[in-house]
Amino acid sequence: MEFVTLNNGVKMPMVGLGVFRVNDHKECEEMVYQAIEMGYRLIDTAAAYENEEAVGRAIKRSRVPREDLFITTKLWVTDTNYEGAKRGFQRSLDRLGLDYIDLYVIHQPNNDYYGAWRAMEELYQEGKVRAIGVDNFQQDRLVDFINFNRIKPAVNLIEANVFFQREEELSVMKEKNIQMEAWSPLAAGNNDLFSNDLLQQLSIKYKKSVAQIVLRWLFQRGIVSIPKSSNLKRMKENLDIFDFDITKEDMNAIAHLDTNQSCFPTRYKAKEVEEFLEIAKKYKV
Ligand SMILES: NC(=O)c1ccc[n+]([C@@H]2O[C@H](COP(=O)([O-])OP(=O)(O)OC[C@H]3O[C@@H](n4cnc5c(N)ncnc54)[C@H](OP(=O)(O)O)[C@@H]3O)[C@@H](O)[C@H]2O)c1
Repeated sequence: MEFVTLNNGVKMPMVGLGVFRVNDHKECEEMVYQAIEMGYRLIDTAAAYENEEAVGRAIKRSRVPREDLFITTKLWVTDTNYEGAKRGFQRSLDRLGLDYIDLYVIHQPNNDYYGAWRAMEELYQEGKVRAIGVDNFQQDRLVDFINFNRIKPAVNLIEANVFFQREEELSVMKEKNIQMEAWSPLAAGNNDLFSNDLLQQLSIKYKKSVAQIVLRWLFQRGIVSIPKSSNLKRMKENLDIFDFDITKEDMNAIAHLDTNQSCFPTRYKAKEVEEFLEIAKKYKV
């Protein structure tokens, strides 16, 4: 495993396992347990994924020392304020059965995220969380956030994949020393990613799968990624990206796949945000 050192000195694995949409708790526990057995050290869950207990059970079953794992969870929208962050954090901690979290992030830039951050700064200073960060913050939010807070986020999670490459966001984060982490690094299979011509050609050339080409391309750009797979073979494959190099020419060729468009429904319009907030209130966090 390769690691990156965050702006507070904490080391974070460059590839982890995401467990979004893994709603079956038995499946989730087994998947996380097997992942840790095969070498995954970073697990990405969230209060809103409603599977923190299952992740916690897998951690407890594993023989890997707690300090070798890097567990991320996220504060949901309805709890995003000072009191809510304290409550939400404790609930996540209890569900995971842990006494600290490695990375705790604000899941969405909605509600009182400045108030929530004050609570998270306190949790960080009390040693209950090793790093605090944000999620889905565009560069305008990020810059404002840095300006009006004492502690700078260590990480910002955003969608990043071959079709939505986020080069400008990446350069802002590099300049501000905030680690970029890619969610949906395989675009959740959208836009026919796995049958893309260029990626298939590169797969043949490097004797690696399309997923490995994409994850390696993210790694070479200095981006942490958290692919989700419930399949043991594919989970192994997604971890096995540290023994080859994509040439500069091929990196540039992949750059041409950028559409500068999200692969998912966006929330730029008032109506889209209103619909999202209605859904957000229904999560059992
Ligand atoms: N913070 C946020 O707002 C946010 C939003 C979305 C996602 N996330 C995080 O990012 C993680 C990953 O995103 P995602 O789940 O949306 O999508 P993803 O990781 O981009 O793609 C997952 C899909 O690709 C398939 N897959 C995985 N590895 C493969 C391989 N080697 N070959 C072929 N197919 C493969 C999986 O199927 P199988 O399981 O069958 O292998 C699944 O259908 C989430 O689990 C979550 O932790 C965060």
